[in-house]
Amino acid sequence: MLLAGKVAIVTGAAQGIGQACAERLAREGAKVVVADVNDELGTKVAEGIKSSGGEAFFHQCDVAERLDVHNLIAAALARYERIDVLVNNAAVLDDKPFLDLEEAEFDRVIRTNLKGSFLCAQAVARQLVKQITEGDGSGSPGAIVNMSSVNAWFGLPDHVAYSVSKGGIAQLTKSMAIALAPYGIRVNAVGPGSIATPMLDEVIKDKAFRTKVLSRTPLGRFGKPEEIAAIVAWLASDEASYVTGTTVYADGGRMPLNYVVPVNE
Ligand SMILES: NC(=O)c1ccc[n+]([C@@H]2O[C@H](COP(=O)([O-])OP(=O)(O)OC[C@H]3O[C@@H](n4cnc5c(N)ncnc54)[C@H](O)[C@@H]3O)[C@@H](O)[C@H]2O)c1
Repeated sequence: MLLAGKVAIVTGAAQGIGQACAERLAREGAKVVVADVNDELGTKVAEGIKSSGGEAFFHQCDVAERLDVHNLIAAALARYERIDVLVNNAAVLDDKPFLDLEEAEFDRVIRTNLKGSFLCAQAVARQLVKQITEGDGSGSPGAIVNMSSVNAWFGLPDHVAYSVSKGGIAQLTKSMAIALAPYGIRVNAVGPGSIATPMLDEVIKDKAFRTKVLSRTPLGRFGKPEEIAAIVAWLASDEASYVTGTTVYADGGRMPLNYVVPVNE
């Protein structure tokens, strides 16, 4: 098991990629704090992990509320006494063309995706540093994995705030990795392409949009949340001990593609 005995917080873990990460980390031996605004689904995910023999609990948290994040860290420490891993995954999507995008919507997306990631990462990093400076030197220093996107790189005219937030995550990942390197704490990101989760429900159901997405996906299919979770588990583990400040793209070959590929469906 990659993460035996470690304690991991996964944000936005009530469904989709976050849920897959929480479940995978638990299977790798981590004790998992399932953090999300969605009480009902988040509780189900934690219960599911426990009924499969893992260890987890749900904690309701809006990642963009400083007090909520403070309480999340306190809850994790109260239950498991330390933190080793943060998966900074919670995010929301705007869906208006640039010219119609309202200020409040821009703020909502940046607040959750970027400020939320910053608040969680800083709070966890402070705890990791405390464990390193006050601890007995045993154990590894800890790791943070941010959920980025291919849209940290590509521009999306109908999801401007989202793309901006993911561009920010790329810089947050690099800057934090350098800031925390002296402690041995690693910070990386995963950049998914199009993954079949509730966030992409409408795209997947709409034939024309599906074709558009698949024409930009050389592997010819949407990704599965579990395929992202596998990378997160590796980056969070000591197996990735010399990897920091980087983004691993898992996009079915979209980033290197110029033009389009044929769609066979
Ligand atoms: N699905 C994709 O194709 C895709 C592609 C690239 C990147 N991503 C990224 O992967 C991550 C997960 O995406 P997903 O597709 O699973 O999304 P999703 O919408 O299915 O799940 C997001 C989760 O985040 C939670 N959440 C939203 N706002 C929150 C807040 N303020 N505080 C705490 N929790 C909050 C939601 O309740 C939900 O459980 C996101 O960072 C997303 O940007 C997804």
